[in-house]
Amino acid sequence: MGVSEKALVLKGITKRFPLVLANDHIDLDLNWGEVLALVGENGAGKSTLMKIVYGLQPPDEGEMWVDGRPYRPRSPLDAIRAGIGMVHQHFMLVEPFTVLENLVLGLEPGSPFRMDLDQARREASALMEALGFHVPLDEKVEDLPVGLQQRVEILKALYRKARILILDEPTAVLTPQEAEELFRFLRAYVEKGNAAIFISHKLKEVLEVSDRTTVIRDGKVVGTVQTPRTSLEELARMMVGREVVLRVEKGPARPGEVVLEVENLAAPPRLKGVSFRVRAGEIVGVAGVEGNGQTELVEALTGLRPHTGRVLYLGEPLPPTARKVRERGVSHIPEDRNQRGLVLDFTTRENAILGDHHRPPFRGFLDFLQPEAVEAHAQTLVERFDVRPRSTALAARRYSGGNAQKIVVGREILRRPRLLVAAQPTRGVDIGAIEAIHKELIRARDEGLAVLLVSADLSEVLSLSDRILVMYEGRIMGELTPEEATEERLGLLMAGISPETRR
Ligand SMILES: Nc1ncnc2c1ncn2[C@@H]1O[C@H](COP(=O)(O)OP(=O)(O)OP(=O)(O)O)[C@@H](O)[C@H]1O
Ligand SMILES: [Mg+2]
Repeated sequence: MGVSEKALVLKGITKRFPLVLANDHIDLDLNWGEVLALVGENGAGKSTLMKIVYGLQPPDEGEMWVDGRPYRPRSPLDAIRAGIGMVHQHFMLVEPFTVLENLVLGLEPGSPFRMDLDQARREASALMEALGFHVPLDEKVEDLPVGLQQRVEILKALYRKARILILDEPTAVLTPQEAEELFRFLRAYVEKGNAAIFISHKLKEVLEVSDRTTVIRDGKVVGTVQTPRTSLEELARMMVGREVVLRVEKGPARPGEVVLEVENLAAPPRLKGVSFRVRAGEIVGVAGVEGNGQTELVEALTGLRPHTGRVLYLGEPLPPTARKVRERGVSHIPEDRNQRGLVLDFTTRENAILGDHHRPPFRGFLDFLQPEAVEAHAQTLVERFDVRPRSTALAARRYSGGNAQKIVVGREILRRPRLLVAAQPTRGVDIGAIEAIHKELIRARDEGLAVLLVSADLSEVLSLSDRILVMYEGRIMGELTPEEATEERLGLLMAGISPETRR
């Protein structure tokens, strides 16, 4: 087939970085009227390829066509002119600005010095009407929950008249309900004759929303399949190059002493009062729709947020600062790795000891940093947690999203804490690496670690936890064993309906 009837055609796209060949002669085509899923392991080259299409970086080799015409973008402005919009893996909105200001930013109608906000408001309102979704135009982006921020990103692309929409892991931060809404929008969008590329590690979503799926591995296209004719297992195998165990294998927990005891813990704005215990050698999962107090709970327990109520850690009150909490052996995998988990300009070596750099074995006699100890530690981390590329000298911002997450998880587990507070530990991580991280968590549990696992991914909570607490509106609605936790029971508790209220 020629290139003329296609939305987008890529031929031989190649991109080299100092340590990796990120894209290796990639051929890909996108038809009008379809959602094409793009899947592959962390670091396979998905975001790199899409940044090339969006004009954020030039390819070293290769050619592109949009709607049959040769296409060589020198900046995103060229991409926008060609009708391409992109929603990034990490949002690119200007947070202190309002939604409306973000929409017109860099594209003001009329004079470049006076933004015509009134006209923009009229256009945006009409667009939202047509799309059937709403975003408050006058609120600041930083005040919006992530689900709405993402709608702003989509609205921004459509406001610029995108006919080809690229979504790089758009659902990583969405609740299942928000993801469903996004899928309805995407289907309607392509049925009008547009086209979309959808990147996700959630293969169930890929199966649900896409027409075709292209798999890439190590920068090369492995193959393209008609999505309805494939399966989760087949996609996983194509991605990883081996069979993937989709179920977590673990023996029964052997809980020991109480490590964490929480009584009536409350923290504004959303944590209203919770009580529970976590023992050594067990994983306690917290399930619930995001925004029901989980963030406050995690931050209170790690010393990052003021709270009331009683928290005993190893029988003593929790120290007053995050640094002291950490020093006493509490590890924290934060929900937002870029904000809290990593210093993006630091190398893996530096990030691997972040928060522990002032202590032995890294800081030695006369306060000198011990380079050999630091390097050995970083080596262990990248090998055991399969951080790719294996270098310890690469700055955090040069890693793919999932590999950056592996650095955080590895650092927090390897420091041998007594308590691990893990929020969304596998967000953005590929299916093979999830398997590896789950194994590490079970291994740490079996060595006596107490784990509090907060995850928006129900299947993750179900497969890892020894006990499950369900949160709703800042309180614990119920506690279940994994055996008791059917989807229905969990769903009801997550919606705030307890067995008593039903009776
Ligand atoms: N600016 C850069 N400098 C050096 N290496 C880079 C740069 N950007 C990306 N890379 C490397 O290119 C490879 C591909 O990265 P990319 O972000 O495209 O992966 P990805 O498929 O999107 O992965 P993920 O699923 O984890 O998001 C990785 O090995 C990454 O470290
Ligand atoms: Mg990526």
